[in-house]
Amino acid sequence: MDGSDLPLVRGPVPGDASRSLIDALARHECPAITARRSRRAKVLGAEQDDPVVWARGTGANVWDADDNRFVDFTSGFGVALVGHGHPAVVAAATAQTSTLIHASGDAWPDVRRIRLLERLAAFAPGSLSVGLLGLSGSDAVDAAVKTARLATGRPGVLVFEGGYHGLASGVLALQSARPAFAEPFADTLHPAVRRVPWACDVDRVAEALADGTVGLVLLEPIQGRGGVRDAPHGWLADVARATRDAGALLAFDEIQTGMGRTGARFACMHVDVQPDLLCVGKALAGGFPLSACLGTPEAMGSWGDSAGEAIHTQTFLGHPVGCAAALAVLDLLEADLLDRVQERGSALEDRLGPLRGRGLLRAVPLPAGVDALATSRALLQRGYLTLPATADSLQLTPPACISDAQIDGFADALRSVT
Ligand SMILES: Cc1ncc(COP(=O)(O)O)c(C=O)c1O
Repeated sequence: MDGSDLPLVRGPVPGDASRSLIDALARHECPAITARRSRRAKVLGAEQDDPVVWARGTGANVWDADDNRFVDFTSGFGVALVGHGHPAVVAAATAQTSTLIHASGDAWPDVRRIRLLERLAAFAPGSLSVGLLGLSGSDAVDAAVKTARLATGRPGVLVFEGGYHGLASGVLALQSARPAFAEPFADTLHPAVRRVPWACDVDRVAEALADGTVGLVLLEPIQGRGGVRDAPHGWLADVARATRDAGALLAFDEIQTGMGRTGARFACMHVDVQPDLLCVGKALAGGFPLSACLGTPEAMGSWGDSAGEAIHTQTFLGHPVGCAAALAVLDLLEADLLDRVQERGSALEDRLGPLRGRGLLRAVPLPAGVDALATSRALLQRGYLTLPATADSLQLTPPACISDAQIDGFADALRSVT
C-alpha cells in the first residue's frame, strides 16, 4: 500500500477554488439547497463553513476543486456502494451512451429496460417480479403509495416515527426524520398518514390498522436517515403479520438498505420477511439516477392495462444509460460483492467497536458530550467525508472497496478529534 488512497489535504478546507465556486453557486441556485458559511453559522453554529466542491471520484476517493483527496465514508448518500466510477459501470454507461442515450418511456421501451426488469425480478426475493421504474427514491415510494391505493381501495398509509421516504409532495408527509421539511407544506400533503413509534409493540400497529382504512404499511428495515436504527429481533415479521391480518399491503423502503448495502441483496432477506412492495434506488445504478418499485403480480396488476397513455410514467422512465449501469451493478452483486460488503462491515466493527446497522450501513456512537456535526467537520479537515447519523453518532456508508488502510486512517482520525 503506497498511501495513494489515503487523504491528501493540500491546504485549508475548503480551499480557494471551492470557495469561489460556492460563491458562484450561491448566485444561481435556490438558496435552500447548499448551506453557505453565513447561513450555516446562523442555523448550526459559528463553527460551520462552506462545503467543499467535488471534482472527481474513483473507488472510495473523492477529489475536490482544490485537488484535496478525501476518503468518502458516505458513498455520496449511500449511492456508490460499488465505488465511485466503477470500471464496469463506466464501461456499460459509456457503451450505452454511444448506442442509445434516450428512449421513449411508455411509448417505445428500449432493450436495456426490458433486460433490467427481468434481472430485478430474478434478483428480488419471492414473487416481487413486476417493477415500475423511476428516477429517484421519492419516485419509487410514490409508486408504492399509488399501487397500494389501487390494490386495496384504501387511502391510508401507516409509517413509523423517524422514517425517511423522500421529499416529493406525494411522499413528503410519510417521513418524520426531518419534521421541519414537511411543515411549510402541511396543508398540501397526503391527508391520510398515520404514524406509530419505531419498534413499537406490534399491538400498536394492529390498533392503527383496526378501522380498515389503511392500505399500506411502509417502513425501512433499518431506518437510515432517521439515525441508522435497527429493527428489534422478530419485529419485522410481527409487523408483516399484523399488516396482512388487516388486509393492507406491506412495503419495505430499501432505497438505502437494498442492493447489497447491508451484505444481503435486501435487508429483509436477513430475516426472511417478504413484503408485497419493495422500493429500491440509490446504489441500484452505480451512480446514475434510477429507482424501482418492485411488487407482486397481484399488487402491480391492480393498475390495470395501459389503454394507450400510461397513467403513471415520466419522460425519462427507464432511462437506457441508467438501466445499462444497473445491469452492470447486478453483475457485480451476483459475483462477489455481497461477500465483500459483509467482510468490510466486519472490518469496520473490528476497528471501531460495536456499531449500529449492518454490513456497510453503519453508525458509530461518539463519546458522551461529543457533537456529531463538529466531529464530521473536524474529520473533513483530515480528509474524511462523513455525515451525522444523530446528534451523537456518525453515519458510515462507505463503498465496498474501502481498504484496510482507509479504515485504519479513519479510526485514527476519529480518535484524534473526539
Ligand atoms: C430510505 C430512503 N427512502 C427514500 C429516500 C429518498 O430518495 P431520493 O432522495 O432519491 O428521492 C431516501 C434518501 O435518502 C432514503 O434513505
